[in-house]
Amino acid sequence: MLLNINKLNKTFGDLHVLKDINLTVNEGEFVAILGPSGSGKSTLFQLIGGNQIPDQGEIFLNDELINGKKGFISYMPQQPSLFPWRTVLENVVLAAELKGKPNYEEAKQWLAKVGLADFENSYPIELSGGMKQRVSFIRALLSKQNLLCLDEPFSALDEFTRLKMQKWLLSVWEENRKSILFITHSIEEAIFLADRIYILSKRPAEIKAEIKVPFSRPRDERLLESSEFFTLKQEIFQYIREEITE
Ligand SMILES: Nc1ncnc2c1ncn2[C@@H]1O[C@H](COP(=O)(O)OP(=O)(O)OP(=O)(O)O)[C@@H](O)[C@H]1O
Ligand SMILES: [Mg+2]
Repeated sequence: MLLNINKLNKTFGDLHVLKDINLTVNEGEFVAILGPSGSGKSTLFQLIGGNQIPDQGEIFLNDELINGKKGFISYMPQQPSLFPWRTVLENVVLAAELKGKPNYEEAKQWLAKVGLADFENSYPIELSGGMKQRVSFIRALLSKQNLLCLDEPFSALDEFTRLKMQKWLLSVWEENRKSILFITHSIEEAIFLADRIYILSKRPAEIKAEIKVPFSRPRDERLLESSEFFTLKQEIFQYIREEITE
């Protein structure tokens, strides 16, 4: 097991955000986290990334306790935090640079794959929101840890670009099978991409359900139109409905 989270609790003052969260990610697995806005999804990533410290519970990566420790995961935050004084290319090699060995050729290839070849030397202020997300995504990918944590990476993209990026992410993942933990608001996105889905309740967030996604790989967009897809979507929607009616 790559990531093992055990009974994690987090409060901010009087606000109880995460409650007894147990969650695992296996080697090479694609896991999605689906939950209402404000439930504590990004907070969970802040804890895994070591930017916040849990009140209770443990986070193990490869059996090593990483509570409060930074630098063990690749992390794409919800808000792309690009450095305004660095170009696109300089931004995406950042993590590798900190380790002393940026590979500019590789970085350029990835930028080209996401349609940003002509923007290597642009500054973040010259990019659209969706372009910034893509830069932030490539930066996380190039930091090359075993676990890639993506916090709503495609939420600012239009339907066309999103589907393209989802398919592209699947192909990248199928190539190198890095473990991915992926936060999303979208039931469809979670089903289309993941092997397993955790559904969070509203705050304080608890794991409400864990769903295994039975669809074979490689997946393509025909899956989105199948009746099996629709049935699973309905099943998941029931849990979400409970959250908004309770
Ligand atoms: N550093 C912080 N200090 C105080 N409160 C915080 C902090 N970070 C998050 N919160 C609070 O914790 C709760 C959960 O926030 P979080 O960002 O984890 O939600 P989320 O599930 O990611 O929501 P969204 O889907 O809108 O991104 C919110 O009520 C938020 O105000
Ligand atoms: Mg969030």
